[in-house]
Amino acid sequence: MAAETTPLREVVAVAPGKVNVTLAVGALADDGYHPLATTFMALDLYEHVRAVAADEISLQYASGSIPTDELSCGEDNLAIRAARALAEFTGTEQGVALTITKHVPIAGGMGGGSADAAATLIACDRLWGTNLTNEDLLALGATLGSDVPFAILGGVAIGTGRGDSLAPTMVSGTFEWVLRLSDEGMSTPATYRALDEHRARHRAHLSVAAEPEVAEDAVLALRGGDVHALAQALDNDLQAPALGLRPDLAEALEFGETQGALAGIVSGSGPTLAFLAENAAAADALATRFADAGHRVVRASGPVLGARVIEQR
Ligand code: C5P
Repeated sequence: MAAETTPLREVVAVAPGKVNVTLAVGALADDGYHPLATTFMALDLYEHVRAVAADEISLQYASGSIPTDELSCGEDNLAIRAARALAEFTGTEQGVALTITKHVPIAGGMGGGSADAAATLIACDRLWGTNLTNEDLLALGATLGSDVPFAILGGVAIGTGRGDSLAPTMVSGTFEWVLRLSDEGMSTPATYRALDEHRARHRAHLSVAAEPEVAEDAVLALRGGDVHALAQALDNDLQAPALGLRPDLAEALEFGETQGALAGIVSGSGPTLAFLAENAAAADALATRFADAGHRVVRASGPVLGARVIEQR
């Protein structure tokens, strides 16, 4: 006789934010996206999603460490879209009341919205007992946003295509980061557009690869746990356009690099800046210097695991 299972009433899942250690952007393709070759690292800043069984699908934000006033809880919200996509894919008619506590900066280029969607997929899949394979969850994630599959996978991975085709990468040790936040977010499409405009203006000088290359130097540095080599390998094609749109970031980059960081980089499409430090003590000291100079910073380490359930009842 098969064992009866009591339906779950509540599941809590977490998913990490990320930094793009390298990000090479190819030429704009016909589908409106740029082919990428990027190295993702998941950081220990987690979005928490509490999913409670309900008749309808709804969302609210808990008072977490990040103000969420500007975020919509409507149908355009990526977490709501994730729950609806899973319901549609599996044919379930169950609902869920979602409560998200955010710890990843909003519109910061750190994949916070994607982590919300990833944790929502994992939480609802458990709550509803729909038991998708990891492969199906990754594919469903990719329909929601380019960075959602990585938030499910975690660790370090090379992302190609739109960044959603992932190859996990070996890493030794932990890397220590200081993230410098901005009060005002940036729009991802606007940063890509600025890159295209910059490239169009310099067409005579630049030949942009259709398929950008994976950064082998970063992969080797990660595999060897070599923080100095990784600092040298940090690279982001979106950095120049992001600094063009937000000149104030250049000064903050300079500040971090002269105050003890091995290197600094714009995270993803910005405006968060990620500074790599030699070790935890150096990162703590750098964070203090930034804070003393009036900047908002958070400490983070990585890599960490991807989206997972941490509580259920
Ligand atoms: O996939 P996601 O929703 O994160 O992308 C938001 C926008 O960023 C896209 O509509 C596109 O304009 C731009 N983008 C891009 N190339 C990528 C990823 C995003 O041009 N690889």
